[in-house]
Amino acid sequence: MTIRWKYLAILVIVAPLLGLGFAWSGLMSVKASTGHWGMTDWFLHWVMRNSIRTAALSTEAPPLDNPALLPPAAGHFETGCAICHGSPAQGRSGAVLAMLPPPPDLKTVVPTWSDAQLFEIVKHGVRFTGMPAWPAQVRDDEVWDMVAFLRKLPGMDSGAYLQASGLHGIGTAGEVSPLPITCESCHAEKRLNGNSIIPRLTGQSEAYLLNSLRAYAHSERASGIMKVAIGTLPDESLPELASYYAKQARPPRPAAPWDAQLVEKGREIAERGRAADKIPACLSCHEKPGGNPAYPRISGQNAPYLERQLRLFHAGVRGGSSFSHLMTEVAKKLNEEDFAALAAFFASRESSGP
Ligand code: HEC
Ligand code: HEC
Ligand code: HEC
Repeated sequence: MTIRWKYLAILVIVAPLLGLGFAWSGLMSVKASTGHWGMTDWFLHWVMRNSIRTAALSTEAPPLDNPALLPPAAGHFETGCAICHGSPAQGRSGAVLAMLPPPPDLKTVVPTWSDAQLFEIVKHGVRFTGMPAWPAQVRDDEVWDMVAFLRKLPGMDSGAYLQASGLHGIGTAGEVSPLPITCESCHAEKRLNGNSIIPRLTGQSEAYLLNSLRAYAHSERASGIMKVAIGTLPDESLPELASYYAKQARPPRPAAPWDAQLVEKGREIAERGRAADKIPACLSCHEKPGGNPAYPRISGQNAPYLERQLRLFHAGVRGGSSFSHLMTEVAKKLNEEDFAALAAFFASRESSGP
């Protein structure tokens, strides 16, 4: 027995040393060109699938069949994912196809994952493969938008894809746009309706637009979608973009069938606040004549967008300009029923001009 203990001790010390020696010798290949051995390839995929299956066990998917979730995710897919995974509008370069492992064509693999598993992959990325994590880790809502889009991707032909991602309008009828086309692909008034989760920018306060763009650029406002959208723009171009949108009047919209009771409840808080919960009137800051131009105009904004922002402020993760803490303080005191009521009231209100 004593002899066996001795062998075991030698093994425990010698084996790691041998491993280290092998790694030091430089004989271990890290060449991507030769690919993995079949066995390694199988093993790595097996590990990945197991890891994602386990991570997704405690994740519950929200309802994802709302068509309003698709446009921002589709536009982001084209700029943030298609370079590796390809899309109906974009082939892949030879360099990407030589990655190890090569990024798969998502149309074929998406059906093999559940919603919760796709969420895990898109939120956290896949280590050692080049598959990146979502650029704003606090924005689970954005990751779910992407999952909703991925679900639809296998059934989309190229026309449906171009429509969803906002690429179909490029260069039509000699439109001359002073903007990088990417802003309009998502924010063009004609693409937005009252159900949109993308905000209207027309008629917004210039100071607020500029503050917001800077906040995205410097990661003080968390959005993976906006971070990537303005990622390559120099800081100096932001004032021009803010002024471009601020100068346009916000076009009026046909009245939507609002729930009158909900709107009334929102009006009550907007105009008077709620003393019992120490909530100030929203209109004591927003759209106040002669008020601070850095406070955004929220009337006529899309309701689902407003509701999301209120939830983000409430959870303390919205971020924004150096004034955003004022709003966080207010939103913390709102409750679950207030969000929809306030969003309905402000969305239904005629936008007050600049
Ligand atoms: C830099 C290249 C790159 C980018 C950008 C990228 N991916 Fe990936 N992705 C990969 C690679 C490589 C894998 C393969 C992982 C594997 O097979 O183990 C992968 C795997 C995946 C998978 C799992 C597919 C499977 O069955 O292996 C999904 C889903 C996915 N990516 C979605 C996305 C989405 C959505 C985006 C954009 C937000 C994105 N990817 C951006 C490289 C990329
Ligand atoms: C892929 C779609 C997409 C593209 C492209 C895009 N945006 Fe956005 N934008 C969004 C979404 C979604 C939001 C809401 C993000 C959030 O929750 O903070 C947003 C938010 C904004 C906001 C904040 C508005 C507010 O009321 O707080 C500004 C300003 C903005 N975008 C400007 C731009 C500009 C300028 C460009 C072009 C450089 C651009 N966006 C490109 C989707 C997009
Ligand atoms: C003390 C002043 C103040 C009060 C009161 C206030 N807000 Fe705000 N709110 C702000 C500021 C400042 C911002 C902009 C934060 C930034 O620049 O990032 C903001 C931002 C917002 C936004 C985001 C707009 C966008 O385009 O993304 C919404 C929605 C909003 N407020 C709704 C409300 C509602 C609803 C109320 C009433 C319950 C309210 N606010 C009360 C100061 C206030």
